[in-house]
Amino acid sequence: MNTTEFAHASVAVELGSRSYEIAIGEGLLKEAGKRLRPLFKRPLTAIVTDSHVAGLHLEALRASLASAGIDSKPIVLPAGEATKSYRHLADTCDGLLAAGIERRDLVIALGGGVIGDLAGFAAAILRRGVDFIQIPTTLLAQVDSSVGGKTGINSAHGKNLIGAFHQPRAVLIDIALLDTLPGRELAAGYAEVAKYGLLGDAEFFAWLEANGASILSGDAQARIKAITRSCEMKARIVAEDETETGVRALLNLGHTFGHALEAATGYSSRLLHGEAVAIGMAQAFRFSEKLGLTPTGNAARVERHLRLAKLPTRLADLAGSLPEPRKLLEIMRQDKKAVAGKLTFILVHGVGEAFIARGVEEKDVLEFLAEEQAQA
Ligand SMILES: NC(=O)c1ccc[n+]([C@@H]2O[C@H](COP(=O)([O-])OP(=O)(O)OC[C@H]3O[C@@H](n4cnc5c(N)ncnc54)[C@H](O)[C@@H]3O)[C@@H](O)[C@H]2O)c1
Repeated sequence: MNTTEFAHASVAVELGSRSYEIAIGEGLLKEAGKRLRPLFKRPLTAIVTDSHVAGLHLEALRASLASAGIDSKPIVLPAGEATKSYRHLADTCDGLLAAGIERRDLVIALGGGVIGDLAGFAAAILRRGVDFIQIPTTLLAQVDSSVGGKTGINSAHGKNLIGAFHQPRAVLIDIALLDTLPGRELAAGYAEVAKYGLLGDAEFFAWLEANGASILSGDAQARIKAITRSCEMKARIVAEDETETGVRALLNLGHTFGHALEAATGYSSRLLHGEAVAIGMAQAFRFSEKLGLTPTGNAARVERHLRLAKLPTRLADLAGSLPEPRKLLEIMRQDKKAVAGKLTFILVHGVGEAFIARGVEEKDVLEFLAEEQAQA
């Protein structure tokens, strides 16, 4: 891990004519107008955001855009996962049309993963596709959801089942926005940072073990480095496999177990997405140990680090009851990562050595889940 100090960083997502830059730094929201102005064909935009973020950061963004001569119309949606719905998609599209957004205009998503996914999808289908810019405001969105072009909403059949690949034109990451983020949300985002080390960069994970506390307590340099390394890894994987036909699936480390828990807990505040991923990653390591794929001890190391960030790692960390193993398996089968009835998991040979395991035996999963529940 490069230890050079820097105040601003930039990561390129190389996708030919659709390549874009991720700018990372402290105080970038104030520079948004100046930085983004060259991307606008005419000085008008709509900002999609949620009610929490609107109260905290919307006016600063609008003022910065105004200082660069850009007029902005806000569309403020309710905060929370339930907003990723058909209803709010329709409201957003109608809001964008009412704001006068035309084919060659740009839409700005200002918020966490919920707003980025929804606004990006609205941009993908509005007038058969308009461009958009991501200004992510949660740690999870800054290291994961704002990069890579996966957009969408949820359906009664499951999460993220309706959507499109639509890459942003730019991503602007201001770490100062994290200062208003509740601690639990920050920790949930940190799970995705740890994920990059665990899936493919053992050196980065070791650096996180030494610096995780500084990242969580607000050290700007540590935050910029962690976010930059995370975005570099995501950008590299997306450039290699934009539509997830191969290596991009590694980003789902912890997600098959995690999604089942999210579904079982009703996508509620009982378990945040990043928290589900934390339990899921710990489970992926324990399951890999059980199958003899990785030496004993790695799972304990992963758990130790996630616990330092006050993240849950076991079913026992969840208050209330959970469905029995068979039901959890059923949810996993319905997950879009199940192909032809076979379960696909991201498993590990070690820290930084994740791989795609296709055709995992259901009986092994069931036995593992039963053991996990017995310990809960
Ligand atoms: N597209 C992708 O590749 C991808 C990847 C990972 C996750 N996701 C999606 O991301 C979503 C989760 O994103 P999230 O964790 O950012 O959730 P979120 O967008 O719901 O934000 C979490 C909470 O923090 C609040 N908030 C946001 N920024 C804030 C700030 N700066 N200060 C104070 N409060 C703030 C929000 O209002 C919300 O209440 C899920 O829907 C998940 O499916 C998408």
